[in-house]
Amino acid sequence: MCRKFLLQVVLIGFYITGGCNGYPDMPEELLLKALFQKYNKNARPATVLMPVVTVDHGMDLIRINSFKDNTLRTDVWERMTWHDPRLVWNPSNYFGLTSLSITPDMVWTPDVTLYNGVGEIQKADLFRRITVNSNGMLLWLFPAQLESACVYKKKNGKYDCRLKFASWTYNGLQLNLTHTDRQLGMSNFYPNPDYEIMGTNSTLNLMRYACCPEPYPDVSYQVSFKGVGKG
Ligand SMILES: *[C@@H]1O[C@H](CO)[C@@H](O)[C@H](O)[C@H]1NC(C)=O
Ligand SMILES: *[C@@H]1O[C@H](CO)[C@@H](O)[C@H](O)[C@H]1NC(C)=O
Repeated sequence: MCRKFLLQVVLIGFYITGGCNGYPDMPEELLLKALFQKYNKNARPATVLMPVVTVDHGMDLIRINSFKDNTLRTDVWERMTWHDPRLVWNPSNYFGLTSLSITPDMVWTPDVTLYNGVGEIQKADLFRRITVNSNGMLLWLFPAQLESACVYKKKNGKYDCRLKFASWTYNGLQLNLTHTDRQLGMSNFYPNPDYEIMGTNSTLNLMRYACCPEPYPDVSYQVSFKGVGKG
């Protein structure tokens, strides 16, 4: 009787401290161990049947900071979503856990870059975590401070600047871009009294070059504005 009781105490202690299974009562710990045991973050999340990784790109304009010497400084929220078939799990095997928040250095991330950037300052790195859903969809939403070269056409006192995003190393057969928002998000915009926004839009473009058969997609956002009191 006493021995049996002792054994139970030992077993409970074993369970609470984790025993040899690591942390059996910690869903995130268990799941991370299962997902990342063999994960290679340099491998694109492509399969033989789905060889093209599709990345959706969206952006909110938060503020125009300045426009000086053909350089436009903006605060934005950048947003990318894609699917990684290695990061799929059944929530019922993990105490109902349906999503995880992880740091970007753990997974393959799209190298979508501001092409006309002149020094991309990434602000608030701590918040650049990625949300992974049990269906394998990843959402990467982060604030950034962008500096872009603006080759503008000044028309009626109005500047048109373009922010072009594309993958740095992959072509469109490896990483395709989509743009489901079809606009530059303005719902979180914070006006700067020095600049008046005249209009915004965005386009998904597919470039082909004479050299190569593969397409090169990009998502470009346009901002038209006037400098108030500065011409
Ligand atoms: C890339 O996406 C575009 C737009 O959705 C689509 O028309 C095109 O077929 C896609 N390309 C590939 C290689 O999947
Ligand atoms: C997007 O806006 C820019 C600047 O206002 C303009 O030049 C361009 O024609 C617009 N493009 C589309 C597709 O509306």
